[in-house]
Amino acid sequence: MQTVTRIEEVRRQVAQWHRAGERVAFVPTMGNLHAGHVALVARARELAPRVVVSVFVNPTQFVPGEDFDAYPRTPEDDGSKLAAAGTDLLFMPPEAEMYPRGRADQTWVDVPGLSDILCGAFRPGHFRGVATVVAKLFGIVQPEFALFGEKDYQQLAVLRRMAEDLCLPVDVVGVPTVRETDGLAMSSRNGYLSAAERALAPEIYRTLSALAERLRAGERDYPSVEREAMVRLDRSGFRSEYVSIRSADLREPGPAEARLVVLVAARLGRARLIDNLTVTLG
Ligand code: PAF
Repeated sequence: MQTVTRIEEVRRQVAQWHRAGERVAFVPTMGNLHAGHVALVARARELAPRVVVSVFVNPTQFVPGEDFDAYPRTPEDDGSKLAAAGTDLLFMPPEAEMYPRGRADQTWVDVPGLSDILCGAFRPGHFRGVATVVAKLFGIVQPEFALFGEKDYQQLAVLRRMAEDLCLPVDVVGVPTVRETDGLAMSSRNGYLSAAERALAPEIYRTLSALAERLRAGERDYPSVEREAMVRLDRSGFRSEYVSIRSADLREPGPAEARLVVLVAARLGRARLIDNLTVTLG
C-alpha cells in the first residue's frame, strides 16, 4: 500500500491506473477505523481492481461545539488495518491540502431539504460540510465507485443525491451496517462510552428492532410508536434526539409504503449515537 498526503500524488497514481484500464473504488473515511470500515474496503475490492481510501477528519462537517478536537486520530493503526484489508492507495491529506484558503473557501455543496431533516436539524451545516468534502475528494480521486456505510443512512442519501444532481460519474454504493455481537452499530464514537454506557448502548438496537417488529405486524400509527420509542430510550438513560419512521428515500411515509426505514439519534454520555433499520412490509 502506498500512503500519500498530496492531491497531485493521488491524481498521478489514479491517472496511471485509468490509462491501464483499471477502475477505482474509493472509501472516504475520517479514520479510527473499525470492522465497519474494513467491510467497506472488502466490498470496494469486489467492485474494482484498485482501492483508494482517504483518512481525513473534515473540520467543515463539525458544528461549533462538537468533538472536532477530540475526534480520535489513530493514523498508524489505520494504516496497518488498511494495508491488511488490501488497500492500494491511502490518501491522508493535511488540512491545508484540502482547504488551502483555510475556512474562507467560497464554494460549498449543499443538498437542501435532505440535509435539513433528522440529523441535519440537530447539526445545522453538517451535511453541507460532508457534501463539500466528498465532492472535493471525488474530484481528486475520480473513482468509478464510492462506498459508504448504511449506518449513516441520511449521509448516504445526501451523497447519492449530490452525485446525481451534479452528474458526477461515480456509482455511490451503500454497505450494510456492521454490528457488535450485542447489536450495537460499530462507530468511532463508541469509544467515547464508559463501561456502564457501553453496556447500555445496545438498547438502541433493541428499541429499533422492537419498533420494526411492530411495523411488520401492521402498526401504522407512526407518531405514537416514535414517541414510545423515545420514551423507552430516555427512561433507559439516553437523551434521544429523534426516532423517525420514513420512506426508504426519507420522505414522510405514505399509507402504502412497501419499504420503511426507522432512524434514531440519541446521546449517551459524551457520545451521539445513530442507527437505523429498514423494514420491508409484506
Ligand atoms: O462518514 C464519514 O466518515 C464522513 O462523514 C465522510 C464521508 C468520510 C466525510 O468526511
